[in-house]
Amino acid sequence: MSLSPMEYSASLRVGTIEFVSPDEIKVGLDLEAADGIAANAGVPRAFPRINSYVLVATEAGYIVAQVEWIAIERSPFPKRKGFADYGLVDLPFPLRKMRVNPLGLLKKKGDNFQFQRGVQTFPSVGEPVLLPTDDQLRAIVESGENQRVKIGTSPLAANANVCIDPDRLFGRHLAVLGNTGSGKSCSVAGLIQWSLSAIKPKQGNTNARFIILDPNGEYAKVFKDKGRVFQVRDKSHPLQVPLWFWNSAEWCSFTQASAKAQVPLLKRALRSMRNEEFEVREQLDIQIKRFLGTITISLRSDKSSGNPWGSFPRPKKFYEKVNKWSESIDALKGKLSGTDTRLDDIATSLNDYKSKRTGQYPTYEATTDEIDDVLNNLVSAFSAFGGTEQDLLPKNEDIPVKFTGGIFVSFLEALAQETGNEQYVEFLLARIRTMLADTRMKNIIGDSNITLEQWLENYIGKDQAENGCVTVIDLSLVPAEIVHIITSIIARMTFESLQRYRKINGKSLPTVMVMEEAHTFVKRYKEDVENHNASSICCQIFEKIAREGRKFGLGLVLSSQRPSELSPTVLSQCNSFLLHRISNDRDQELIHRLVPDNLRGLLRELPSLPSQQAILLGWAAELPIMVRMNDLADHERPHSDDPDFWDVWSKESERSINWQTVVDEWQMKQVQEPDEENTEDS
Ligand SMILES: Nc1ncnc2c1ncn2[C@@H]1O[C@H](COP(=O)(O)OP(=O)(O)OP(=O)(O)O)[C@@H](O)[C@H]1O
Ligand SMILES: [Mg+2]
Repeated sequence: MSLSPMEYSASLRVGTIEFVSPDEIKVGLDLEAADGIAANAGVPRAFPRINSYVLVATEAGYIVAQVEWIAIERSPFPKRKGFADYGLVDLPFPLRKMRVNPLGLLKKKGDNFQFQRGVQTFPSVGEPVLLPTDDQLRAIVESGENQRVKIGTSPLAANANVCIDPDRLFGRHLAVLGNTGSGKSCSVAGLIQWSLSAIKPKQGNTNARFIILDPNGEYAKVFKDKGRVFQVRDKSHPLQVPLWFWNSAEWCSFTQASAKAQVPLLKRALRSMRNEEFEVREQLDIQIKRFLGTITISLRSDKSSGNPWGSFPRPKKFYEKVNKWSESIDALKGKLSGTDTRLDDIATSLNDYKSKRTGQYPTYEATTDEIDDVLNNLVSAFSAFGGTEQDLLPKNEDIPVKFTGGIFVSFLEALAQETGNEQYVEFLLARIRTMLADTRMKNIIGDSNITLEQWLENYIGKDQAENGCVTVIDLSLVPAEIVHIITSIIARMTFESLQRYRKINGKSLPTVMVMEEAHTFVKRYKEDVENHNASSICCQIFEKIAREGRKFGLGLVLSSQRPSELSPTVLSQCNSFLLHRISNDRDQELIHRLVPDNLRGLLRELPSLPSQQAILLGWAAELPIMVRMNDLADHERPHSDDPDFWDVWSKESERSINWQTVVDEWQMKQVQEPDEENTEDS
């Protein structure tokens, strides 16, 4: 039997609007509306169901609303059509009411429907409330453009596909929140895998970049074959974050340098390391170039401070300095081959300057012309040896230029002696020495041959991502003392390299950085105190990425069980949320504050979500939606199965103990190679 459109729409009717205010719409359900399962939409569907969708027919189209609560009110018995019940005393009757939240408008477009966020006109009282058909539900859930990646289905909308636009999901930071075991890691691993498999590259391989910072070592299992996994003690892919990557803030935080005495010293030592002042053995040309560069800088500063013509004794001091330069240049000239004339002009002009200041009472003051002449010759000699203006700029203490730990320590020692600060740096030096000697740390930060370029190729990926799209950085075996520093360095290096990439290429390199257990690494900290501890340094770099990453194509995915402990700055910069089950009060409260009022109804379902189900809301979702995430097969799931107490206790599953191996590892007697068989809970 086919129904006419009018009859059909009448058959979908479940109630009428009884009350409308800007933030509340109440619906009285019809007596004959379904109670449990509705069959009027063609397929059986749970109705009335919290958070399911209903439609209100208006002239502009259907207003889509979400059911917030359902209740029974004792009301006078409703008038029944065709009944003349004069003389009957109506007893109060339990009538069903529900409150609904308007979300948007569903318009007919050709044979299909189109959903639009936002409602301009509210319905009026008396208007019928309808159950959506499957097509309509699909149009609501599958609305939006570029829905390229299917992540699951919507149990509240006839299992319509839920798809996302990766530009939206990853471009403006995503927070995946939920209690332990609620399915966060599976969702994160899934989002990456589903996205990668949905990409159809125009030619060659996929040029995507995901960097997973994995404190629990869960992801190695999933991405071992599909990407690069870096682990401490892994022979072929060891986790390496050389100490010359560290910037001054990271050094200060690690050594707990005191702001007054130690920080300036540490910074000075780093600056020297990075300006390569410590290198002595080198080619003659480079040596001359450096020397010329140094005196150019010095002469310029003398000139601008007026030393050559200032009051006594500045010109005399200046003269003495130039004298030394002249001697050195003559000596260097002697080392060059006889036909090499590159130092001739500067040597002559320095000798000219000197010859005018001989005799018993010379006037040391110089004219600007004289100084300019020397300076010009100096600069041309400098460029003859390959120097550029760029080389004359002082390098700051934070650039990643290679140096070794040993040289750094001895330099710092010498510097402290020179400046009479020995007593202040003792602790500092001790800490650095301990770190350099610690075998657990040495593997990660110690001297290795890796260059900056190789590191970027390994960790961020090669051109066209030809060495894989996913990097897993397993932080689980990084010693606790340095895990925050290491994490923040990796995050900072990624951010800064993408920043530089965009500066040079004018376009960004879209990259996603995943931070698991974000509450330990992006932990809120007190802003009023001077914060140099490792955890706040780490949080600060993530705050920076959250604020500025979008511009450089760096998207964040944070996963956490304790949203209330996360940095508020980072959370407020997240534009999309995937919320799994959250039952804790404080965490719920926090989530409620993140979303507009009219969505809170949906969030009330958070404590009762089964695992693998989540609510997606924010920039990536056209409307907040409940998703049942796609199924992941065993090998696609992160290694985070619940411990099998019962099976082990009852010897279903074998566990033997050899504490000696633990002791040896602990006391650093020998480096234990992780045994694949034993670490897998298979
Ligand atoms: N999409 C999915 N496909 C298959 N199984 C899933 C899925 N999502 C969750 N699960 C199941 O839920 C379990 C817990 O999920 P998961 O390890 O992702 O939780 P979690 O929120 O990351 O927990 P924790 O906070 O402790 O890390 C998994 O072991 C898996 O059995
Ligand atoms: Mg997890």
